[in-house]
Amino acid sequence: MESNRSNSSNASLVFRLFDENPNSELGILDSPQRPLQAPPPCFEVLPSEVPTSVKYVTEPLNVGGVILLKGRVSTHEVFALGNSDLVPGKYEGGLKLWEGSLDLITALSCEIKVGKLSFAGQRVLELGCGHGLPGIFACQKGAASVHFQDFNAEVLQSLTIPNVNANVQKMPEHLATDTNKNNNLETRFFAGDWGEVHSILPYACKDETEASEMAQLNRGSSYDVILMAETVYSISALPNLCRLIKKCLCTPQGVVYMAAKKYYFGVGGGSRRFLSLVENDGTFSASLVSEVADGSSNVREVWKLLPK
Ligand SMILES: C[S@@+](CC[C@H](N)C(=O)[O-])C[C@H]1O[C@@H](n2cnc3c(N)ncnc32)[C@H](O)[C@@H]1O
Repeated sequence: MESNRSNSSNASLVFRLFDENPNSELGILDSPQRPLQAPPPCFEVLPSEVPTSVKYVTEPLNVGGVILLKGRVSTHEVFALGNSDLVPGKYEGGLKLWEGSLDLITALSCEIKVGKLSFAGQRVLELGCGHGLPGIFACQKGAASVHFQDFNAEVLQSLTIPNVNANVQKMPEHLATDTNKNNNLETRFFAGDWGEVHSILPYACKDETEASEMAQLNRGSSYDVILMAETVYSISALPNLCRLIKKCLCTPQGVVYMAAKKYYFGVGGGSRRFLSLVENDGTFSASLVSEVADGSSNVREVWKLLPK
């Protein structure tokens, strides 16, 4: 496929990220560390950049009564990697669908039902989107704009954009409902590392000083809702992720919904590790929205962060 970056790996380490079952679609983490290397450049990916050389197929997915179309592409076709590989700092697992994104949609749906959340007219940012299904759910629920961010431009090009097209632009008539049509929607796509991607996000502040100045003005040009699923596995990435949220979230009314495993075995990250960083930082208060302990993997959680 055409890519803005080379597909040839200069990463020194290749780890298994996913489970041993080659047919499994859900990612399972088993990656101990990240290599020290400069992150790839940040840039906006245009919806027209979908590669024609990568085969993309969809299947319907029922997430607690919410019907979404989930795409599937081959990791080998996109990255020239085996289907179960992660290359830290090069490919961060976005082609797999992770359980947390389904937990997140279920939690968002409940929050809407009980009147604690509305996407209507909101600016939404999905960080580490991969398939982008939570962001797509926000599109269907009336968001004004949804911006999708992933480490890999290739993921946005080959999977996220086609998923948005399939679910929002071209939903088949038999699956379309009044709630998943949103005619005044802006969707945009941004590739880059959490340490730098704020520089290209349209509603992000350039630094934390500007973010706190905006907060004092009571409404910055920033995001109302930030969504993220399975983004807190790598300990080394957590400080940048926390700083990025501070630069992007609207204060005081913004909200972050985060789905993650409580603990990622083998890597040390997890929801609790991220939340202790957030707590020390002092900008946000956190509350548990839901917990999934179904025995199929380690405990999974959905958390809500609000500016203090
Ligand atoms: C495990 S995948 C989860 C994908 C998707 N949210 C899901 O739940 O199916 C982690 C995502 O975070 C992104 N990511 C990981 N580390 C990152 C970093 N340092 N900067 C930017 N994005 C990163 C990856 O591109 C990837 O899409």
